[in-house]
Amino acid sequence: MTEVQSITGVRNELGAVRSRGETIGLVPTMGALHDGHVHLIRKMKEQASFVVVTVFVNPTQFGPNEDYSNYPRTRERDRQICEQEGVNLVFYPDVEEMYPVEPAISFMIKGLTDHMCGKSRPGHFGGVLQVVNKLFNIIQPDLAIFGQKDIQQFALIDRMVQEFNHPVRLIIGDTVREADGLAMSSRNAYLNKKERKRAPLLYDAIKTVNEIVTSKPDVSVQDVLVEQEQRLKANDLKIDYLAVVNFYDLQPVVHIVPGSRYIVAGAVINGTTRLIDNLITDFKQIS
Ligand code: PAJ
Repeated sequence: MTEVQSITGVRNELGAVRSRGETIGLVPTMGALHDGHVHLIRKMKEQASFVVVTVFVNPTQFGPNEDYSNYPRTRERDRQICEQEGVNLVFYPDVEEMYPVEPAISFMIKGLTDHMCGKSRPGHFGGVLQVVNKLFNIIQPDLAIFGQKDIQQFALIDRMVQEFNHPVRLIIGDTVREADGLAMSSRNAYLNKKERKRAPLLYDAIKTVNEIVTSKPDVSVQDVLVEQEQRLKANDLKIDYLAVVNFYDLQPVVHIVPGSRYIVAGAVINGTTRLIDNLITDFKQIS
């Protein structure tokens, strides 16, 4: 496994790899790797002959009061996991390498960030697109994989690839969960015992909303959401949002059309930790 910190170093390594005719697969991460990341690496290894993992805690996607400085950094462990998983190259630039000057150009996003995380984290997805755009240009991968857990992130990157003609094929990875249903996240490390115990309730609420709206299409989506929000609040989880949105434009849904695709998504503040989760509706499950 090769480890590289500089953009020039990556370009040199990958130039040789590309000329051998290998398929380059990119797995972008912010490190603190867990089984969710490992799943993406394994899925990528099935499709790409040369797998690149990037580890970079990107400052431009964190708001001023968010956890940039506290975000877990576990470089040696991340390195071991990548090595065990047969990753070919790890790119772990520092901030100066990625942003040698204060960026003057940013992404403006219309519509897709009006709801869900985009609404509560202004500027976040602009920062995500900024860094992923740079990573695509630096690595020039044939394939790149992102997790369904961050479904709005996936939708925006997919749109960027289309609108900016990035020659990359995107793959989506399923959400890997703990035994009790909690979606794995580097931020789960912040939870104390009590917070950890109630954390799976978010996924429970999302599953319940999914079950009701896909089995009773005449039901008021709003009423179903309010009921589940109350359940979460009663368990000391602060609601950021709970929503049913259209799969294609991420706009909130008032009435369900059986057979259409929706995303049931939510974010809660558990203690001081923000947790997100979602699932894609599947009407077949119910009938
Ligand atoms: P990070 O939170 O480290 O996540 C890296 C990738 O792992 C993302 O594609 C995310 O959706 C995926 N992931 C996270 N938890 C997962 C889980 N439980 N199961 C499956 N996949 C999971 O997302 C980012 O980093 C950053 O925004 C990044 C895209 C790297 C840009 O900075």
